[in-house]
Amino acid sequence: MTAQLNYLMCAPDHYDVDYVINPWMEGNVHKSSRDRAVEQWQKLYGVLKGLVNVELVPPAKGWPDMVFTANAGLVLGDKAVLSRFLHKERQGEEPYFKAWFESKGFTVFELPKDLPFEGAGDALFDRSGGWLWAGYGFRSELDAHPYLAKWLNVEVLSLRLIDNRFYHLDTCFCPLTDGYLLYYPPAFDSYSNRLIEMRIPANKRIAIEEADAVTFSCNAVNVDRHVVMNKISDRLKQRISDAGFNVIETPLTEFLKAGGAAKCLTLRTIEVPIASELANVEPSIVEARIVELTGHLLDSGIINRALDLVTDNGGSFQVLEFNLGEQRQSTSLAKIRISAPSHDLMETIMGELIEIGAVLQDRDTSDANLEPVLQDGVAPDDFYVSTIYPTDACVDGEWLRCKNQRMDAAIAISPDGKTATCKLLRDLVVGDRVVVGYDGVRTVRKPEARDTAKKEEFSFMGAGVSSERRVELVVEQIAWELRQIRDRGGKLVVSCGPVVVHTGGAPHLAYLIREGYVQSMLGGNAIAVHDMEQSSMGTSLGVDLKRGVSVKGGHRHHLKVINSVRRYGSIHKAVEAGFVKTGVMYECVKNDVPFVLAGSIRDDGPLPDTVMDLLEAQRLYSEQIRGADMILMLSSMLHSIGVGNMTPAGVKMVCVDINPAVVTKLSDRGSVESVGVVTDVGLFLSLLVQQLKKLDSPVSVAV
Ligand code: ARG
Repeated sequence: MTAQLNYLMCAPDHYDVDYVINPWMEGNVHKSSRDRAVEQWQKLYGVLKGLVNVELVPPAKGWPDMVFTANAGLVLGDKAVLSRFLHKERQGEEPYFKAWFESKGFTVFELPKDLPFEGAGDALFDRSGGWLWAGYGFRSELDAHPYLAKWLNVEVLSLRLIDNRFYHLDTCFCPLTDGYLLYYPPAFDSYSNRLIEMRIPANKRIAIEEADAVTFSCNAVNVDRHVVMNKISDRLKQRISDAGFNVIETPLTEFLKAGGAAKCLTLRTIEVPIASELANVEPSIVEARIVELTGHLLDSGIINRALDLVTDNGGSFQVLEFNLGEQRQSTSLAKIRISAPSHDLMETIMGELIEIGAVLQDRDTSDANLEPVLQDGVAPDDFYVSTIYPTDACVDGEWLRCKNQRMDAAIAISPDGKTATCKLLRDLVVGDRVVVGYDGVRTVRKPEARDTAKKEEFSFMGAGVSSERRVELVVEQIAWELRQIRDRGGKLVVSCGPVVVHTGGAPHLAYLIREGYVQSMLGGNAIAVHDMEQSSMGTSLGVDLKRGVSVKGGHRHHLKVINSVRRYGSIHKAVEAGFVKTGVMYECVKNDVPFVLAGSIRDDGPLPDTVMDLLEAQRLYSEQIRGADMILMLSSMLHSIGVGNMTPAGVKMVCVDINPAVVTKLSDRGSVESVGVVTDVGLFLSLLVQQLKKLDSPVSVAV
């Protein structure tokens, strides 16, 4: 017997499954046998008494889960952090455990109200490193961890539980003597798994399978080289033995019905972590920041999105203030404290929160942190990565609106500190100062009034990714927008792929250009080649579009066209010489609509106009996009995504593709202004032109 070790247990006099607070209890209410439970508990008690000193806390009537003393609190030395149960079904146990700790001379620490922490069920000392593994996600709050670190002066590593069957850390995680670890990896998120792998070398990790996990194989009591647990599989028993442990099985099926087993039924009350006296332990790596959100937080669903994204990323929050505003049109304000188990996760959370308009509010100054660029084309680590939304950076107390807003860029501040510009990595030069971190950065959302927000959303985005049935409706709306943009001298940019030609859409696109709807045309080599092939030879990739059949030798047509245009020297010259007489490119030339053709690895030729220098092509594209009111993306995943990346929020994007995946990808930018249409692009263009003609002269258009 290891006499110096003390364990606390509680006899199952009042044990029963009375309610459901975890998935194991479902279907088991009043289904456990008291007699068998007593017998199993006695057996466990007997086994443990042979190994350690066991003390008992008197069971209290009406608190059936009190047998699970692991949840009484967390003990280290002469300190005990009392549990604060999440569920009211167990909160009544707290005073009994508190009285017991006090009667034994422990200094009892109590967490603030409403900050749940379920004791040693969710907090386990590593058996060699002396740090504390603390679980959160179901029962205990991440924000309780810093208290543990402070009160117990121990390093806390937070692990996020993601499978509700393993709602307490000790149901899926068991540190063993000599730095071994018995655990079930899928119960944790990937960040936590990485943390575990960084701390515990591979040869000490005993990762178990689901079949073993669901019999609570991880819920073991480890005393030196003994592990006491419910019955487990022979295979696992062998593995644990191979690691040098003596497995003692004792059936605990009655307690499994309440979601507990050996470890849950015990609390180690003498805990002296081996390295706990380390002088400079990192007190806790849980970080906290305070952000503010304003707007129609409830109507727009922003508050839900904000809180969800915090927990989805493994963080935790506390709403410090929520002011709904008094009038119907008033905006609301929320002040939220966000915590995250590591700096990296905090960065992720902040990035996403700022994207939906949150502003960090917890520093004396609101200035952004700036760091110099030390090498051309390379940003400092931690540089703020821009989004599509209008962004302000605070420099010397002044909020500067970023120029050239686009996503995936760095924010560079001019030497005089007066302007902020989104710059691609490759455009950064030594001497630029770049915003790092998230302080002093805010994105700006349109301050729409409540009603208009709804209406806009309905009329445009409401269509979402549409099915065929809704195409006509969407086309009507788009035609209306096109008409307005043209009439007010706005800018429509079209990006398109060769499918426009193959599906018979070229004459319609040509119409749009001719009628002044299009101010800029973006595409690749292929759209221009096939468009001119069609206008000069009547085929598109060798297929006669009028008859729908391949023309003999037609597969060479496109090369002949390329060759001819190369002879003329440019598309403009080919048009002027009369080689190209109709079509998209023809109309561009004739109507002075600028076009950029961006090359790619698969291009034949290319045409003399195709820009094969990709950086240059990107630059030219973004130049064309500047000032656009709307971008019509027609059946080109490559060009559409390229364009999407350069486009700030506020520019309406219409993405038309027969492939729903492309459409979803493009319209998924979270911005209200993008809409996807899943349909044949030729059909779409023909409907669009028809609708525009209708708007021109409603009477004369024949059906
Ligand atoms: N029915 C109890 C609950 O859901 C079981 C507790 C198990 N304890 C543990 N340390 N895992 O709270």
